[in-house]
Amino acid sequence: MKTEVKLYTNGKDKNIRVYVCKDYETLSKKAATIFASQVNLKPESVLGLATGSSPIGMYKELIKMNKAGEVDFSKVSSFNLDEYYPLEETNEQSYRYFMNQNLFKDINIDISRTHVPNGNAADIEKEAADYDKAVADAGGIDLQVLGIGGNGHIGFNEPDSTFVLPTHVVNLKEDTIKANSRFFATIDDVPKRAISMGIGTIFAARSILLVASGKGKAEAIKATLEGNPDPMVPASVLKLHSNVYFVIDEEAASLLEEYKPE
Ligand code: F6R
Repeated sequence: MKTEVKLYTNGKDKNIRVYVCKDYETLSKKAATIFASQVNLKPESVLGLATGSSPIGMYKELIKMNKAGEVDFSKVSSFNLDEYYPLEETNEQSYRYFMNQNLFKDINIDISRTHVPNGNAADIEKEAADYDKAVADAGGIDLQVLGIGGNGHIGFNEPDSTFVLPTHVVNLKEDTIKANSRFFATIDDVPKRAISMGIGTIFAARSILLVASGKGKAEAIKATLEGNPDPMVPASVLKLHSNVYFVIDEEAASLLEEYKPE
């Protein structure tokens, strides 16, 4: 794996480790190794999870590792980043459904300790406040997995989001609705709102693992790593975090100039 994964640095931001991987499969394996190490070091880890295409390969690797006895999820708890609103969890486009299908059903996690915001809550503002309280009661997030939008969003925190927000209800931007419509029968079926951990909730995680693959992410990755922290690029807040891993493929890294292989 050595030559397939290269550590990129910019010579100053030692809090950020950027692993550039040959391809998506290598990226998925590298990300799974980081994730599994967290669980092996602390079996009762509180894990922050993401949906979307980016972490699917990592989840597949983790399923294999779990079946091979290399990682045990029996004591962990998890909190997902976000959910559409309004949407029932039984809907096949819900993020709860996604997590059950792509990870939870195939690993030895206690499903009662998995949390996804309830996109069908009668009082959605209360759901948001209760969600942050549940994260805090669990002891805070040890490792938060993130993908990144082509516009730099993390969770459903779109450009121009306030960096300090807790979990809250968001109106989705047109480009996010369009990007996510690939999973729905028609664009009109995509919910226009969501409940999402805020950047404040995400930033409070003790460590962060962002996975990104493909040319469509290259500009957002460059703006995040090489620009100044800027609410117009929500992921750029991560530059200020003390413990972040970026695990990205060569295409996503293709516009980096300041970050170079060590
Ligand atoms: C998913 C999430 C989103 C995605 C992002 C990238 O829970 O919160 O921010 O991580 O939209 O999506 P993919 O990985 O499908 O490109």
